[in-house]
Amino acid sequence: RPTSVGIDAMAFHGPECYVDMEDLAEARGVAPAKFTQGIGQRQMAVVTPCEDTVTMAAQAGRRALQAFDIDPDEIGTLIVGTETGVDHSKPVAVYVHELLGLPTSCRTFETKHACYGAMAGLTSAADWIQAGRARGRKALIIASDIARYGLGTPGEPTQGAGAVAMVVSPDPRLITFDPEIEGDYTRQVMDFWRPLYSKYAFADGHYSIDCYLDALESCWHDAVGKAGGSHEAFALSVLDACFYHVPFTRMAKKAHHRHWETELGRAIERDSEDGARVEDSYRQRVEPWLSLNADVGNIYTGSLFLCLIDYLRQATSEREGRPISLFSYGSGCGAALSIARVSEGAARFHRAIDPGGQLAARRRLNVEEYEEIFRACEESDRNDGERIDPARWGLTGGLHYVGTADHRRRYTK
Ligand code: CAA
Repeated sequence: RPTSVGIDAMAFHGPECYVDMEDLAEARGVAPAKFTQGIGQRQMAVVTPCEDTVTMAAQAGRRALQAFDIDPDEIGTLIVGTETGVDHSKPVAVYVHELLGLPTSCRTFETKHACYGAMAGLTSAADWIQAGRARGRKALIIASDIARYGLGTPGEPTQGAGAVAMVVSPDPRLITFDPEIEGDYTRQVMDFWRPLYSKYAFADGHYSIDCYLDALESCWHDAVGKAGGSHEAFALSVLDACFYHVPFTRMAKKAHHRHWETELGRAIERDSEDGARVEDSYRQRVEPWLSLNADVGNIYTGSLFLCLIDYLRQATSEREGRPISLFSYGSGCGAALSIARVSEGAARFHRAIDPGGQLAARRRLNVEEYEEIFRACEESDRNDGERIDPARWGLTGGLHYVGTADHRRRYTK
């Protein structure tokens, strides 16, 4: 049975359009600094009616396999973590299975627990490998989501869309999990939810921030308990980087502050000496890896892993072997804190993993275009039999959703 397990390959795929947060702030009559500093977002990815959870997941998956030279036949488990599925019954994962040409012997399913869904998939895949059931095969885990709160709502500046694909294997080329350190937390709370009848999420915004921070603290205590009462192995002073779920980048700053408070066991005033230490730590361990999130927005299940991509695209050989922390939070709520180490040789893949070119090629929308697209998405699968033309939305070539026929979803190949 394999003794080590971790992430062997990663890739991001996002929508082809975005809106600038300063443009959005101006249109909403809000000071731009509220969105760019208070929320901490520069741009927001916008899906057209021809991009959905399936198209983003399949393209991220394809890119991860190709960039890391993995044959689809090596995949024995495919899990898509999403909270914005396309069907109440049929999993996104089975469309992705077909689009990627994965073997019929590959087990395939979807996981849901808000933004925690992909982390749940990742740990299940690691368990599958360590239990010896993979028999030399790898697992493909894809986080894919579209965050939508509605035009003019408080949640609007925290929307976004995108997918992160990760291959899990016993000889991981990127990061290796530490199976000894892990904290979990579950509590039924109504901080954020999306009923079956709604395309938009409901959020009790400020309460959701409190629930997130409480979950982080509880996970940390659970991890300490499981580690025999000591946090030595994951003290903030030894961690090279801390990754948190990022619904908006400013949330990661609040999380790092609470992480420090939890470790020290007391409150920290921002303008105290300790407050300055936390600020330094934030600049060193968190802020450098928030750039992709700031340009994409919230991608729910994939947000945490987008920071990891940002870190790995900047990785140098000095980071290899260093420990990092990963905190996943899913509203509702479920959370996990885990520790991993950067694999030896990971820095070699910094170009293969970098989605910078893809983001630079996106089309900037003005707010009118964004609103028109947003409304068109509401209608996109209401009229069965009507073909949606990708060219209408400026999309050419590639994989796109083109509407339903006889209630069956259709994709260009
Ligand atoms: N210049 C600079 N900063 C400004 C400013 C200005 N002119 N005006 C306001 N700000 C600051 C505020 O001080 C505040 O910062 P602090 O939190 O550090 O005090 C920040 O901008 C936001 O201002 P408000 O709190 O007034 O903003 P809001 O009430 O409009 O809503 C929100 C913010 C609650 C995050 C809202 O966008 C929301 O509901 N988002 C969706 C829910 C969410 O993302 N929750 C996160 C935790 S749950 C989770 O993580 C799961 C998930 O993915 C959804």
